[in-house]
Amino acid sequence: MQLKTISIALCALLNFSPSQVFSQDSVLNMNNGNFKGTTIYLTAVEREAVLSEMRGFVKSTAGIVKGLSAEDMEMVTASARKSGRGAGAHMPHTLHKKLPVSFKKLGSDTHRRFDELALDAEQLGDAGHSLSQLGALLDNCVSCHSSFRIKVR
Ligand code: HEC
Repeated sequence: MQLKTISIALCALLNFSPSQVFSQDSVLNMNNGNFKGTTIYLTAVEREAVLSEMRGFVKSTAGIVKGLSAEDMEMVTASARKSGRGAGAHMPHTLHKKLPVSFKKLGSDTHRRFDELALDAEQLGDAGHSLSQLGALLDNCVSCHSSFRIKVR
């Protein structure tokens, strides 16, 4: 299986979660001057809403990988669906105006990919297919994390 590859990708993702990387940065450089991406300024409440969604993403990803390794496609489906389009419904409405369009596009594409993974896992039950969908989905995480960070203002 390609599971080993995905585990390595996951370890990289989880060990170097953006907050950790950025907080390490801020120890080295208080201005985070080496970050080339876009800083998004949010209220503490708005930031927490985004981060809570992120924690949901990791939780879903863990559930998908566990489901795949246990050959439990129902678990794969249920875990993926939790981060589908329905997941962002509780976002503060003030976020809409503050988030850059490219951020929102990448975010909604990520939800769409979780939904697609859920649907295909349910209908096809093909673990290899789900795994390659997960790999492509994780590229969204990597890409967004290298482009954006959030600060409270
Ligand atoms: C549309 C952009 C975007 C996408 C897509 C995205 N993230 Fe994030 N994520 C962020 C930002 C911005 C932060 C905050 C970074 C910072 O400023 O510390 C973050 C933070 C996180 C955190 C830290 C949460 C915390 O409580 O501190 C985790 C974990 C995380 N993301 C996981 C993921 C995973 C897994 C995926 C993909 C399934 C993903 N993210 C997709 C933008 C994104």
